[in-house]
Amino acid sequence: MEELLKNIKEEIKNITDLKSLNELKIKYLSKKGPINELSLKMKDLSIEEKKEYGMKLNAFKNEVNNLFDTLKEKLETEELNKKLENEKIDISLPATKINVGAPNILEKVVEDFEEVFMSMGYDVVDGPEVEEDKFNFELLGLPKGHPARDAQDTFYVKGDEMLMRSHTSPVQARTMLKYEGKEPVRIICPGKAYRRDDDDATHSHQFTQIEGLLVDKDISLSDLKGTVTLICKKLFGNDTITRFRPSYYQFTEPSVEMDISCFACKGNGCSICKNTGWITIGGAGVVHYDVLKGCGYDPNIWSGFAFGFGAERCAMLKYGINDIRTFYNTDLRETRNFDRKDAE
Ligand code: PHE
Repeated sequence: MEELLKNIKEEIKNITDLKSLNELKIKYLSKKGPINELSLKMKDLSIEEKKEYGMKLNAFKNEVNNLFDTLKEKLETEELNKKLENEKIDISLPATKINVGAPNILEKVVEDFEEVFMSMGYDVVDGPEVEEDKFNFELLGLPKGHPARDAQDTFYVKGDEMLMRSHTSPVQARTMLKYEGKEPVRIICPGKAYRRDDDDATHSHQFTQIEGLLVDKDISLSDLKGTVTLICKKLFGNDTITRFRPSYYQFTEPSVEMDISCFACKGNGCSICKNTGWITIGGAGVVHYDVLKGCGYDPNIWSGFAFGFGAERCAMLKYGINDIRTFYNTDLRETRNFDRKDAE
């Protein structure tokens, strides 16, 4: 026993982890181990001898167990401390920044338009993006075979009757027909339009327009000018000046192109306005006699104006974005930049 105890003490000194401790324990304390062998010797002894031997053996076993238990406890504590040390939380570390979502900048421009128009009593309406030829072209003075249809580069969906609307103007026709020529109309319709354009910095096969239509009695071009000017001042700043250039659309007469004075250089000329001092933001005009008639409004009683703003164009100008594709990719760095600019 003394010999064994000495060996165990010797070996246990070098143990530094629980696994080796367990192995050592198995070596000495398993059924086939030397300590059990000592117990087996009991059966060959006389009753007297058994008593003395038994006591010694018990004391010896206790001491061995003690040795193992003490070290086990020590190693376990060490292991726990090490674990706690590794999992320590440094509360003085700066927190990880969480990026919160920001409204899409295009969406924001559309909402700004909606808000201003709603404050002037306009309703915001919707129309289908997959549209009938009748609404997209025919009722707007573009019958089949009309050469100006080519300019719209339309995506056809089914034969030549269904198409992806090439502008939001079909909503004008839809709304007038719905109101059945009985009441004044005052709506805007922001939405997507599609054209078979090659995508580049200023063209996208899908883009956003903000259509507007007002039909009432005694409406003239000056009402359009007044309304658009007021809207532009609200959206682009009070010192914004508007300019209307003669243009041509089949569904308005007269037709105009709407420009605003460049808000970056206040009309002096800069890179944004290509040194002209002016920026084109959409087309408009007085609703054509035939369009009113075709949509159930008596042109001798009613008159109106319509306009179409290019939403991406307005957003690009307002936020200094020089590529229309920016709106449709998912680069978060861009969105964050917008976010910051907006906050300023
Ligand atoms: N629909 C025209 C376009 O897409 C814009 C427009 C709208 C012009 C309303 C006049 C009136 O270019």
